[in-house]
Amino acid sequence: MDLSMIGEDAKEETLRPRYLSEYIGQDDVKENLNVFIHAAKLRNETLDHVLFYGPPGLGKTSLAHIIANELGVNIRVTSGPAIERAGDLAAIVTGLDEGDVLFIDEIHRIPRTVEEVLYPAMEDGAIDIMLGKGPSARSLRLDLPPFTLVGATTRAGLLSAPLRDRFGVMLHLNYFPVEDLVRIVFRTAAILAVPISEEGALEIARRARGTPRVANRLLRRVRDFAQVTGDGSIDDECARNSLLQLQVDAYGLDELDRRLLLGIIDQFGGGPVGLETLSATVGEDAGTVEDVYEPYLLQMGLLRRTPRGREATERAYAHFGRTLPKER
Ligand SMILES: Nc1ncnc2c1ncn2[C@@H]1O[C@H](COP(=O)(O)OP(=O)(O)O)[C@@H](O)[C@H]1O
Ligand SMILES: [Mg+2]
Repeated sequence: MDLSMIGEDAKEETLRPRYLSEYIGQDDVKENLNVFIHAAKLRNETLDHVLFYGPPGLGKTSLAHIIANELGVNIRVTSGPAIERAGDLAAIVTGLDEGDVLFIDEIHRIPRTVEEVLYPAMEDGAIDIMLGKGPSARSLRLDLPPFTLVGATTRAGLLSAPLRDRFGVMLHLNYFPVEDLVRIVFRTAAILAVPISEEGALEIARRARGTPRVANRLLRRVRDFAQVTGDGSIDDECARNSLLQLQVDAYGLDELDRRLLLGIIDQFGGGPVGLETLSATVGEDAGTVEDVYEPYLLQMGLLRRTPRGREATERAYAHFGRTLPKER
């Protein structure tokens, strides 16, 4: 297959690990899943509903597919925003076969009216359908085949408590350590048949923002440079030069990360600045900044959360070559 002929999304599909054994890192998550999957199989029961939460690109969608593969059942994929009306969800769940996995990505974005259909579906294995309108309306209870709902969200805080409570298994995905990203880069390089040195893989892994999707994307771009300007193989020099050319900095910060930190430094004297104010200056929703961007900056020691707001750390000043103000 010529991988250059297909889009980035399709490429991502070809790189997805399909079984737990192929999924690198997140050992706690894997061990837990392994036990729950085996227990369900032993008892001949459907797996309890599973919720994955954590920043984008860490493997939530991959794990949903892995669950279905390990259970040997079909997976039906949809997303919160795609289910507009209660009837849409009713159509989906009534079409499931026994034991199937229903994967709802971005589950925090399902409308409230749909959520209310989901509750009995998850808890009692049934849905209530309204027949007719007005005073003569009556509801009809429809039993569903037992199924496993797998939900994924970057914004667990936005899930309503009743919905959250209906998941028997909740698993949080954390940013990957560099060692795991190195292994992921090697795995992807092998799939793409691109030769890469240990140092080359390390250069890419270090700048991948703790995120497999970013690691894979950087590897593909570096491969482009290696093929056009070199002999097609990736060593540390090739990786470093390509990443420099791509303006990926030593911490792998992206444009919004940079604007957030530089916003605090240049517009708010290094902080503290409130989350809402900061988010408004970069034109991003406060919840997304808090759940998607800040965790990485906090982990890297570039940002600090204080009771009075966000502050840029000494390390952030040093990273951007700015001088630390004497007083804050
Ligand atoms: N543990 C892992 N091992 C190998 N590749 C991974 C791993 N986790 C994620 N990936 C890769 O990263 C990409 C993004 O993963 P995905 O499951 O789509 O993340 P999410 O749904 O959390 O945004 C996938 O294409 C997959 O190739
Ligand atoms: Mg996903």
